[in-house]
Amino acid sequence: MDWGMKNRMSRLIKSDDERAVWLAIDHGYFLGPLSKLEEPAKTIKPLAPYADALMLTRGILRNCVDAGLDLPMILRVSGGNSIVGPALSNESIQTSVEEAIRLNASAVAFSIYVGTEHEHQTLIALGNLVNEAQRYGIPVLAVTAVGKELEKRDARYLGLCCRIASELGAQIVKTYYCEDFGKVVKSCPVPLVVAGGPKLKTGMDVLGLAHAAVNEGAAGVDMGRNIWQSDNAVGMIRAIRKIVHENASVKEASKLL
Ligand code: 5RP
Repeated sequence: MDWGMKNRMSRLIKSDDERAVWLAIDHGYFLGPLSKLEEPAKTIKPLAPYADALMLTRGILRNCVDAGLDLPMILRVSGGNSIVGPALSNESIQTSVEEAIRLNASAVAFSIYVGTEHEHQTLIALGNLVNEAQRYGIPVLAVTAVGKELEKRDARYLGLCCRIASELGAQIVKTYYCEDFGKVVKSCPVPLVVAGGPKLKTGMDVLGLAHAAVNEGAAGVDMGRNIWQSDNAVGMIRAIRKIVHENASVKEASKLL
């Protein structure tokens, strides 16, 4: 690995514990102003001190994040779809690698839609993005998107998606937690981070997910709704940090909620 790539990776996943807590706030690119993310600057400000990186689009980065904030940025570079459009999987690159460099991004993120009508389009675009980002030492985070079909989140399907993403060159893969998650981790040769998905019933469920994911081999979380839609968002991200970085139990971490 070249120095630039190594340096960016080490800012995203710290070498002391090889773990990470990333705050995902990119949802507006296809969901619009969803609940508790209507005014992104207000959502981000209290949570940023507890995140190891922010995952977001260029529009939110430029307009809602202080340029003095010393945090690595994971720039979502895909889009072109919406929740009300004909196909959520019809996503392609909409932000260039040149723009990612201009914005001082530490990584670029792209969603793949395996098993959909746009599988080929998104996989080829991922390969092309890796080719270009690699030229400038920028890691690619591949997101194994499931669109509206949340029931797809099982180890067989996610294992397939994660492995394909890593084979196509993604340096990090983001996926969902599922039963037998350890199998997904074992068959993916690059670090995996987990999304939270739609808001879970209780805070303990969220902590349980984070705890299980890291204990089964995830490098950490790249979580959005279950943090900032929580009634105690700061408590939630702090509790997740305690699990991910301090190996705390769910019970111990829940004292922060
Ligand atoms: C959308 C994304 C989101 O960033 C991702 O789903 C993480 O957020 P959440 O924890 O809310 O699921 O990549 O494709």
